[in-house]
Amino acid sequence: MKKVNNRRDFIKTTALLSGMALVDPIQTFAFSPKPTMFEIKAVNGKYELPALGYAYNALEPFIDAKTMEIHHTKHHQAYINKLNEALEKEPQLKQIPLEALLKMIQSLPDSVKNTIRNHGGGYYNHSFFWTLLKTNTKPSAAVELAIQNSFGSMEQFKKDFEKAGSGLFGSGWVWVINQMGTLKIVTTANQDNPLMDIAEHKGKPVLALDVWEHAYYLKYQNKRADYLTAFWNVLNWDQVAQNLG
Ligand SMILES: [Fe+2]
Repeated sequence: MKKVNNRRDFIKTTALLSGMALVDPIQTFAFSPKPTMFEIKAVNGKYELPALGYAYNALEPFIDAKTMEIHHTKHHQAYINKLNEALEKEPQLKQIPLEALLKMIQSLPDSVKNTIRNHGGGYYNHSFFWTLLKTNTKPSAAVELAIQNSFGSMEQFKKDFEKAGSGLFGSGWVWVINQMGTLKIVTTANQDNPLMDIAEHKGKPVLALDVWEHAYYLKYQNKRADYLTAFWNVLNWDQVAQNLG
């Protein structure tokens, strides 16, 4: 019975999306007044590894080149491969932008639901994360104000963010999300993200940090707290400002 209902929901959602050709489906979600910063679509039915836009050693010494290279070419690529395999089973889903798929995990066909959640999530999260890494940027006045309004001060924000990252058990992500103008720090397990309909805390992602061991183990080993502290040296505040806009 569950499968039939899921299938019915999925068909309904797909029909709804295809019937809204002139309306960005991302904008139909109440928590996000504007579309998120990028829309990832399959090209000729396949998702592809996005370029980083900087060298693997660009974030040294805070994130080492070897970690970046393995993270990008092996881990990220593996998520893409699995996602593409899943879409071969349900090719009608290739027409739907990835972000929209993540927002309807519960309604996806059972044959691909878990794969799109884990590997589609992994693909999206890493694509988002790469844009947030750059040395020598500073928060704009607008970003400073938003952080001050939501967390009291920049110092408190960093403290809360690092605490959330250290406290996350196992693999996952730390996020800053925008919930109708208020910023919140939330965590997700594995490759879940706050766009997903199954997320406990939903919102528009502004900032994300990968706290899977593969993101830091070569340099920091078991010292996740040191990786969290180092993150502030490579956070691309210019991108944060864009994501807030
Ligand atoms: Fe990762």
